[in-house]
Amino acid sequence: MILTVRRAVLAVLALAAAGMLFAWSGLFNVAASTGHWPITNWFLHWVMQNSVRTYALATVETPPPLDDPALLPAAAGHYAQGCAWCHAAPGEPQSQIAEAMTPPPPALHEWLAHVDWTDKELHRIVEHGVKYSGMPAWPSLKRPDEVWAMVAFLDRLPDMDEATYRTLAYGEAGTTPVSGDAAFDRALGDCARCHGTDGAGRSDRIPVIGGQKPVYLAASLRAYAAGERASGFMQGAVADLSVETLDRLAEHYASQTPARPQPALDANPGEVERGRVIAEAGVPIDGVPACLSCHGEGRPRDVHFPRLDGQHRDYLARQLSLFREGERGGSPYARLMTAAVHELKDEDLEAVAAYFASRGGALAAR
Ligand code: HEC
Ligand code: HEC
Ligand code: HEC
Repeated sequence: MILTVRRAVLAVLALAAAGMLFAWSGLFNVAASTGHWPITNWFLHWVMQNSVRTYALATVETPPPLDDPALLPAAAGHYAQGCAWCHAAPGEPQSQIAEAMTPPPPALHEWLAHVDWTDKELHRIVEHGVKYSGMPAWPSLKRPDEVWAMVAFLDRLPDMDEATYRTLAYGEAGTTPVSGDAAFDRALGDCARCHGTDGAGRSDRIPVIGGQKPVYLAASLRAYAAGERASGFMQGAVADLSVETLDRLAEHYASQTPARPQPALDANPGEVERGRVIAEAGVPIDGVPACLSCHGEGRPRDVHFPRLDGQHRDYLARQLSLFREGERGGSPYARLMTAAVHELKDEDLEAVAAYFASRGGALAAR
């Protein structure tokens, strides 16, 4: 009996030593050019599927409603920039460099029609990426809401025709102006895919930046670039721009007058009125100060406090909950805001977002 145990241990040690010797010899071929054997391919994908299923069950929250079309433009815009060169898109082949990867990234608009990932599983893959494959994680783990927007887009991708994809990802044709400076024009054309050239924001989830204060816009762009404000959409968009270009973009958008239809607000008058009271007087019992003590116009410090009048409601509500949870960074002044809304209740948060969205003002439609 003792003899068999000893033999088994020796056999395991010998195998491990042989494995180390093989690895040390350099004979194992790590070349991506030769691809995997079919059995290795099957094994790796099987491990990946099992891992995704288990972690999706254990760690991913129940999805929010994913049928809101406002989720799609930013996700499609990001897909065009950050995913399509690996995964292709309707009417766009993947890059030849991506084709030469091992494993090669699947063309998702065809592939996803044949696999049965649940929304939670897709969320897990897109948020955390896949080791040993080149599939990257989302740029920020603080923004599961952005990953849900991407899942909403992936859900529709298999049935999406080329024209719909192009409109979602790039906006209406011919929106790029020509300033004469090629680098600036290229950057602005990129921003315009989500924000429009006038900064109106192509959906309720994308902020109005046209007519916003230039100092605030410039500080926000620097905060994204430095990773101090978390957003996979925006961190991807500003990653390789110089500080000078960011400042010029801030100035461009600050000088715009966004033309956009007055949003159809689904707020009742009572909610908007409650929001007005909070904006003007705060919620003293919860220690929430009057929003207008900072966000009203007229004092020198105001350049750091963004305009809220006419901003998109969904965007306002999302930022407020990010501040409340301590997840939203920004300029060095952002902590004032975190303290201001720390105790803001859900219904008050919605009311004050509805109030500012319903207001006319610098950001509102003209
Ligand atoms: C550098 C190339 C690369 C980029 C960029 C990339 N991916 Fe991937 N992706 C991969 C590879 C490779 C796999 C295959 C992983 C595997 O099978 O183990 C993959 C797998 C996936 C899958 C699972 C497909 C399946 O059923 O196996 C999804 C979904 C996905 N990617 C979405 C995205 C999204 C969304 C983005 C953009 C935010 C993105 N990917 C960016 C390389 C990339
Ligand atoms: C893929 C879509 C997309 C692209 C491309 C994009 N943005 Fe954004 N932008 C967003 C979204 C979504 C947000 C909200 C992010 C958040 O929650 O912090 C945002 C936020 C911003 C903000 C903060 C606004 C505020 O009120 O705090 C600024 C400024 C901005 N974008 C400017 C730009 C500029 C300049 C470019 C081009 C370099 C650009 N964006 C490219 C989608 C995009
Ligand atoms: C003490 C000053 C102060 C008070 C009071 C205050 N804020 Fe702010 N708020 C700020 C600052 C500073 C920022 C900009 C943070 C940054 O640099 O990113 C901000 C940003 C915001 C933003 C993000 C806007 C955008 O474009 O992304 C929203 C929304 C907002 N505040 C709403 C409110 C509401 C609602 C209240 C009242 C309940 C309020 N604020 C009270 C200082 C304040």
